[in-house]
Amino acid sequence: NKKAFIFDLDGVIVDTAKYHFLAWQKIAQELNINFTHEHNELLKGVSRVRSLDIILGLRNVQASQEDKDKWLIQKNEDYLSYLVDMDENEILPGVYKILQLLKDKKQGIALGSASKNARPILEKTGILHYFDVIVDGNDVTNAKPDPEVFLKAAQLLNIEPKDSIVFEDSVAGIQAANIGEMVSVGIGEETILHEADYIFKDFTSIEESFIEQLIG
Ligand code: BG6
Ligand code: MG
Repeated sequence: NKKAFIFDLDGVIVDTAKYHFLAWQKIAQELNINFTHEHNELLKGVSRVRSLDIILGLRNVQASQEDKDKWLIQKNEDYLSYLVDMDENEILPGVYKILQLLKDKKQGIALGSASKNARPILEKTGILHYFDVIVDGNDVTNAKPDPEVFLKAAQLLNIEPKDSIVFEDSVAGIQAANIGEMVSVGIGEETILHEADYIFKDFTSIEESFIEQLIG
């Protein structure tokens, strides 16, 4: 059976959450907003625009659209500066193995990410060729937990949502997969991702037999 295996990017394939954090922290500091790692958890899977609103909301900062646009550009420029030296070493453990396994088994492989920087990251890390389909922040209007990004990916692969499996590290992403009636696989901590159908600490904890079971 051919299934759709849809991967989130940030926090699933590459550990970019730390760079998003650093870039947001700079903006927060300028605005005297105390922005912690716990706060950063709320931004995972969330669009850039919405992330800024959440940060401003931490201290009830009211800002003009002009200022917001300026901070959004500043955040992204800073974020991109951390990606300059990015290479295959930033691919999280076990990712290559699962991508290769799915390729060998002729499964559909898609990216389903909120990021507008997804393509350059896949290129820099050398894994772009694994993906049959890429749906990212440039292609969707509704952010996770809206299932649009995953539904689009499945549709482009010509596979039904019920035959689609989503790998996600964010709560919003797991909810999106569940709302889309796909199989949700959380990559990360059980306490955070408890809404997922299955949860693994990372890809090294996923056995080949589990993937075979999903393929059916
Ligand atoms: C998600 C990240 O994948 O993409 C969020 O988890 C990020 O933290 C969002 O804000 C948007 O990314 P970008 O690269 O377009 O700013
Ligand atoms: Mg993520």
